[in-house]
Amino acid sequence: EKNDLAFLCDASEPVEGEGFRVELPNFPALAVFKYDDKFFVIDDKCSHGNASLCDGDVDGCEVECPFHAGAFNFMTGEPTAAPCTVPVRTYEARVVEGKLYMVI
Ligand code: FES
Repeated sequence: EKNDLAFLCDASEPVEGEGFRVELPNFPALAVFKYDDKFFVIDDKCSHGNASLCDGDVDGCEVECPFHAGAFNFMTGEPTAAPCTVPVRTYEARVVEGKLYMVI
């Protein structure tokens, strides 16, 4: 059962339009996105190569990979542009008293 929370950052830190990178012990690097006042957490590493999605351009709920212009919907993890075909993992985000956590 998933009900533990792992602290990511203060909820004021991620801003709309850019990825916010978080590194936690025992997890791959994470990318946090804020969109429409909600938070979304995905693996920071592109599923196509060794790129950090936090370095990519954000357009709405999509982030473009900085390496080969692939893209993902960060709400679902689904790829939205070639050459990406494999989804990135998503995590459930939760805000508690101004702090952002993910459910683990
Ligand atoms: Fe991301 Fe190739 S590494 S599109």
